[in-house]
Amino acid sequence: MFKNILALSALAPLAFGAAAPAQAKALVAYYSAHGGYTAQVAKTVAQAVGADLFVIKPDPDYTDADLDYNDPQSRVSREHADPSSWEKIPLKQTEPDNFAEYDTVYLGYPIWWGLAAWPVYSFVAGNDFAGKTIIPFATSYSSPLGTSDVELEQKAKGVYWEEGMRFGQTPSESEVTEWAKSY
Ligand SMILES: Cc1cc2nc3c(=O)[nH]c(=O)nc-3n(C[C@H](O)[C@H](O)[C@H](O)COP(=O)(O)O)c2cc1C
Repeated sequence: MFKNILALSALAPLAFGAAAPAQAKALVAYYSAHGGYTAQVAKTVAQAVGADLFVIKPDPDYTDADLDYNDPQSRVSREHADPSSWEKIPLKQTEPDNFAEYDTVYLGYPIWWGLAAWPVYSFVAGNDFAGKTIIPFATSYSSPLGTSDVELEQKAKGVYWEEGMRFGQTPSESEVTEWAKSY
């Protein structure tokens, strides 16, 4: 008898159609230029926390010549000289599919001149992050995270912004996994 009551009470929420608790959902949105270092870290983060992936794609994409920071006339150098252009870099898709469903966004980017790569400015400025938490991460050759995350945060609408993390170009899988799971 007692056993039956227990069994019934366990079934009750289902029988009366009670809503299941909302499942926290995470997205890893990232930009990676041709080296693919940030892409590799992003994939490891997504795997570690069971998140979906969204690739931030500039339109048009940067060619190798466009990314030549030693050439003052290259696309990336000209954009570097004009910070107002960063949040206007056209993207193939600005808002990820089903964006409203995500409450956490891991945001990955390479460091360019000590800052976040410009296409990420465009992604941040072009989306509404109301109610979401952003967890930034970057890869770089040697530069620290610096103010790259704080400067991006200033462009974001309605968001809780965690302190960012900088990785080298090829961090170990365990280093990335441990960090991603710490949230
Ligand atoms: C335009 C440009 C600027 C860069 N500026 C820096 C920099 O200031 N400091 C640094 O350590 N690395 C710099 N790098 C190197 C990248 O941050 C590094 O290789 C990064 O891991 C690349 O990631 P990705 O392969 O995902 O694009 C720069 C690379 C490019 C293309």
